[in-house]
Parts: sequence; C-alpha cells; structure tokens
Amino acid sequence: TRRVTIRDISAAKLEGERWPMLTAYDALTAGIFDEAGIPVLLVGDSAANVVLGYETTLPVTVDELLPMVAAVVRGTRRALVVADLPFGSYQASPEQALSTASRFLKEGRAHAVKFEGGAAVVPQVQALVAAGIPVMGHLGLTPQSVNQLGGFKVQGRGDAGTRLLEDARSLQAAGAFAVVLEAVPAELGAKVTAELDIPTVGIGAGPGTDAQVLVWQDMAGLTSGPVPKFVRRYADVRGVLREAATAYAADVTSGTWPSEENSYS
Ligand code: KIV
Ligand code: NA
Repeated sequence: TRRVTIRDISAAKLEGERWPMLTAYDALTAGIFDEAGIPVLLVGDSAANVVLGYETTLPVTVDELLPMVAAVVRGTRRALVVADLPFGSYQASPEQALSTASRFLKEGRAHAVKFEGGAAVVPQVQALVAAGIPVMGHLGLTPQSVNQLGGFKVQGRGDAGTRLLEDARSLQAAGAFAVVLEAVPAELGAKVTAELDIPTVGIGAGPGTDAQVLVWQDMAGLTSGPVPKFVRRYADVRGVLREAATAYAADVTSGTWPSEENSYS
C-alpha cells in the first residue's frame, strides 16, 4: 500500500469520483478510518472542541495540535493526512505561515496543511505551494472568525455567495489543491464545485460538492447535545461507551469482576 497523494485527489475530480474525508486526532481512531478506506484525514483545529474541551477553536495552539498530527500519521498507512493551522499561526505573513506549516510537515510528518480564508491568505497559499507544501483552503463558515461572523451560522447567501466564489477562484489560482466549503447553501456548493477545477470538500454545503467531511465524533455519535443540521449520526458511540463504563462500574462495585479467569494463580 502507498499513501494517497494530492495527484490522486486531482484525478478523482477528473473521473467524477466523490470521496469522504473525516477528522482524526489520535493513532487508534485514525487507524480505524484508514482501514475503512477513508482516503484523506484532517487533524482539524476542531480538536479544540472535541478533544481539549474549549468552547471555540481560537485557543488551540500549534504545540497542542502537533502531537495529534504525528499520532495520526503514525497510526495510518494509506491516508493523506492534512494538518489544520490554528488561529494566529499563519495570518500575520507568508513567512509565519511557512514556518508553522514546516513544523507540521517536519515534526508532525503531515502531507498537507489547511487554513481558513480567501483573498486575504492568497500570499500564504502561494508561499507554501512555492515551498512544495500542498494547501487546502477553507471558506464559508470559518470558525476562527466566529467573533466577526457573530456566531456559527450559514454563510454565502446573496451577494456573499459571489464573493465566496471569487475567493474560491483566488485560492485555486494561488495553487490550493482543494477547498473546504462549510455551512453554505447547497446551490452555492454545487456552483463553486462546477466552476473550479480543484475538488471542493463540503461540510453543510449540500450534496453537490466533490467530497464531504465531518468531525468524526459527530459522524459516530460521540458528541452530546444538538448537532448541526448537516450531520448524520452513523452510530451511537456515546451510548455504547456509557453502557460499557456503567457495566464495568457495576461489576467492580459488586465484586463480579475480576473473576478467577481474570486472575493470576
Ligand atoms: O477543524 C475541522 O474539523 C475542520 C473541518 C470541519 C473542515 O476544519
Ligand atoms: Na478547522
């Protein structure tokens, strides 16, 4: 087996093939998704929420994400691993973006990086691509801008849709190999997909994008509380784990476990 490359991703668009992407943050679950044939894994800055317990993605640091990236790469054989650049680690300048991305490739052994923004981050995309680092863009609901967006809501309605398409074109022209479209009308997702030569990866962007991505804990039903409209839960991992922990606790308190079989003579 060899790793999936960005050339395979480009070829998929030409062939009209759809593909799935999931987030991953540790070696064990990444290995499971690799076995399931998920070709691209994203170590998202959503780790801030689903791993580290922060309210938003803003507080997470490069030092917190790096070990997760390294673990996901170690736990997989086939998937292309994309590292998300956290808030504040790339916006200042192309130099800053290059130095952060280099750490994710050198220390984390990631194969590509992703960061949020359109025209404003085009110099960053150009600098990384010139240095041989594949870049995935991210438009629409960009959670690192939550304070500016005024909440986690649908983006790209009306005139904003035209601006988003322009941003997508700019990212493509700058050399991005794919672009995530988050929480935009399905019609816009399909339009951007048709207009671009690079693949679009939708999350709440309707069925018309080239690829789809979900945070794995949402996909598998590990997260609690209300989930966004675009999530489909494929399992109840939260329920399974809660029952396992409850049964284990009951066995320990009652003395049913460990039994003789579980004990050394
Ligand atoms: O951080 C993340 O998980 C993401 C995906 C939802 C696209 O950016
Ligand atoms: Na992210």
